[in-house]
Amino acid sequence: MGTVGTGVAKILLDTQGRHPLLQTLEIAKVGVRSRKPRRIDLPESLFTTDLASIVTDPDIDIIVEVIGGLEPARSLILQAIDHGKHVVTANKAVISRYGEEIYEAATAASVYVMIEAAVGGGIPVIAPLKQALSVNRLQAVMGIINGTTNYILTRMQNEGGDFEPILTDAQALGYAEADPTADVDGLDAADKIAILAALAFGGRIKRDDIYCEGIRNVSAADITYAETLGFVIKLLAIAKLPDSSDPDCIQVRVHPTLVPVSHPLSSVNGVNNAVLIEGDPIGQVMFYGPGAGEGPTASAVVSDLLSIAASLATGQNPDPLLTCSHSHMLSILPNSEVVTRLYVRLLVKDTSGVIGKLGTCFGQHNVSLESIVQIGIQDGLVELVVVTHEVREGAFQKALSEIRQFPEVKDIPSLLHVL
Ligand code: HSE
Repeated sequence: MGTVGTGVAKILLDTQGRHPLLQTLEIAKVGVRSRKPRRIDLPESLFTTDLASIVTDPDIDIIVEVIGGLEPARSLILQAIDHGKHVVTANKAVISRYGEEIYEAATAASVYVMIEAAVGGGIPVIAPLKQALSVNRLQAVMGIINGTTNYILTRMQNEGGDFEPILTDAQALGYAEADPTADVDGLDAADKIAILAALAFGGRIKRDDIYCEGIRNVSAADITYAETLGFVIKLLAIAKLPDSSDPDCIQVRVHPTLVPVSHPLSSVNGVNNAVLIEGDPIGQVMFYGPGAGEGPTASAVVSDLLSIAASLATGQNPDPLLTCSHSHMLSILPNSEVVTRLYVRLLVKDTSGVIGKLGTCFGQHNVSLESIVQIGIQDGLVELVVVTHEVREGAFQKALSEIRQFPEVKDIPSLLHVL
C-alpha cells in the first residue's frame, strides 16, 4: 500500500461510473511493510506484514504486486503462481530480467501475469501490442519511457542549464529519486523497452544485451547546438526490426538522441511519456500520456484486473489474448552493425585543410556527412559539429578512432545518436 497500491484501492473502493465488472473484485488482504496509519478507508483486519500469507491464501484469486525492486517481488510472484493465482504487476525490473522464468511458471499453472502498468504508467500500450496492433507486422517501437529523464532534459532545454544542478533541484521537488541511477543511467528505460520489444517482435530478449546510455553526459552546449541544427535531445528507447527477412534479429537500444523538431516525439515534454509504434499496414501510431504517478499507474493495474475478471466471468480461460504467446529467444544486433545517423562535436586547431582532412577520413570509411558546422573559434581552436547521414556505426567508430589521432584534433567532447 504505497503510492500505486493506494491508487488501486481507491479505484476498487469507488466503482461508480466505472466498468461494472469492477464490482466483482473484492480486496481480500493488503500487504504492507509496517503497521502505520493509512490514507485509505479499509478495515485494519485486512492489513498484514506477512506477504507469504497473501500469496498462499486459498481464498485469493489475484495478486497485485506493486512492491518494486527485484526481491522479494520475484519470489512472491513465483510463489503466487505456484499457488494458482493470477498476478498483476507493475514491476518492469523483474519482468525484463525474469520474464522467462515467470511466464513459464504461469503457462504451467494456467494463470495470467499481466503487466500493463510496467511500461508507460497510465498509457495503455501493453494491451494494444498484445491485441489490436498484433495483426500488423511491426517494424519499430520507440519512445520516451522515462519521465524523470524527460523532465530533466526538458528543463535543461528550457533553462539552458547543466545536468547536475537540475538533477539536484528535481530531487528536491520530488521529480527524481534520492538514488537516481535507474532513471538517469537509462536502466529503467532499458527494462521497459525490453518488455515492449519482446511483445512487438514476439520473442524473448536478454536484458543484459541491451545497449544503454543515460543522460549524465548530455551538456547544455550540445542542447544549444542541437537546437541550432533543428533538433531536441531526448532519451529514446528504440527497438527496430532492421531486416524483415530476419525477424529473429532486432535492434534494441537506449541513448540520448537528437530528435528532429518536426518528429512527433520532439514535443513530448516534462514527465510525460510517449510510445511510437510502426507497423504494416497501420503505419505510425503514437501513445502519449502520464508515465507515472498514483492515479495513472493504478488505472493501468486495474485495467489488468478487469481483463482477468472478464476472463474469469466468461469462463474463457486461459484467454489467448492475455497469455504470453512466444517462447523463443531473439538476438540483438551488435552496435557495430546498427545503421544510424550520428552527431559528433570536435575541438580542432584552426589550420588550413582540417575540415577537408576530416571529410576525407570519414569518406574513406564510407561515412557520408550531412553537415559540418563551425560553431565558434576560441584561443586558436575551432568547435565543429558533424552530423552524418545513415551510416554503419562500426564504420563511423573506425573513422573516429583515426580522427582522434590527428594532431589537429584536441578533443571530441560529445558523440550522440540522431533519429
Ligand atoms: N521512474 C519512472 C520514470 C517511473 O521516471 O518514468 C516508473 O516507471
